[in-house]
Amino acid sequence: MTGISHRADSMAARFSAAASTYDHSADIQRQTAKKVMNLMSGFAAAVNVIEIGCGTGILTRLLIKRFPSARIECVDISDAMIRVACDRIGSGENVIFSTLDIGEKSAQFDLAVSNAALHWMVPLKTAFAKLNAVLCDGAHIAFSIMLDGTLAELKSARARVASHKQIGMKLPARTEILEGLGINGFMIMSEARETAAVIYDSAWSFLKTIHNQGVTGGIYSGQLLNRTELTMLVEDYDRSCRIEDGGVTATYEILYVLARKVNNG
Ligand SMILES: C[S@@+](CC[C@H](N)C(=O)[O-])C[C@H]1O[C@@H](n2cnc3c(N)ncnc32)[C@H](O)[C@@H]1O
Repeated sequence: MTGISHRADSMAARFSAAASTYDHSADIQRQTAKKVMNLMSGFAAAVNVIEIGCGTGILTRLLIKRFPSARIECVDISDAMIRVACDRIGSGENVIFSTLDIGEKSAQFDLAVSNAALHWMVPLKTAFAKLNAVLCDGAHIAFSIMLDGTLAELKSARARVASHKQIGMKLPARTEILEGLGINGFMIMSEARETAAVIYDSAWSFLKTIHNQGVTGGIYSGQLLNRTELTMLVEDYDRSCRIEDGGVTATYEILYVLARKVNNG
């Protein structure tokens, strides 16, 4: 990897550690990937496509089916994620996987796509500027992104059990995303917000799921909880987020955007 910051390096390490468990725990990403594809339902074809933060290739598989003759370049900063995607899908002339940050591409694409990944790229407006630079005039960008308010229950439970150790990462607000696109030369074609309440068997299985996705630890969690605090967190979450039929709930706030490049930012 070249030109990647220390922050991106530690994020890559975190996602690499989750590469083998990710798919099994990525139900929410599978759902959002289908909705990203729906954003492109009116598209006749795409020639040169870039997927940003492809992970294990959940969206990539849908892209290949939808645009069978397109050349699809998939980038992710995590080596291990790229290896899993390559093993499952296979890299060839039309589908290329590279361990890269978006800023390291120089080709010109007519479509950029991303599923549940752009919120990890901070500051977001810099990511949009980099995207602008790799897209042709008139190119489209279709993506899903997690918004501020995602996993709000977890944030509140953590504040109750360890107020001195707040979650480290701040997810973007809808306005920040739309403004970031605007100042970087994109015109919004459509945008929709979704609130998804996902039910897990217990607080423990919820925490294990997000751990398997590479969300916990490191950048997202900020300062790690000790064993006692973790036990208190599980008990608090089980109590405060329990639903009538059993299980606990966790909320995801998701924004789906289709935009078009209209100028060079
Ligand atoms: C939650 S995963 C989503 C993966 C995949 N898009 C999916 O739908 O399952 C986020 C991915 O974004 C990648 N990522 C984070 N920052 C990145 C960056 N600056 N450039 C490329 N990939 C990045 C991570 O390594 C991780 O694989």
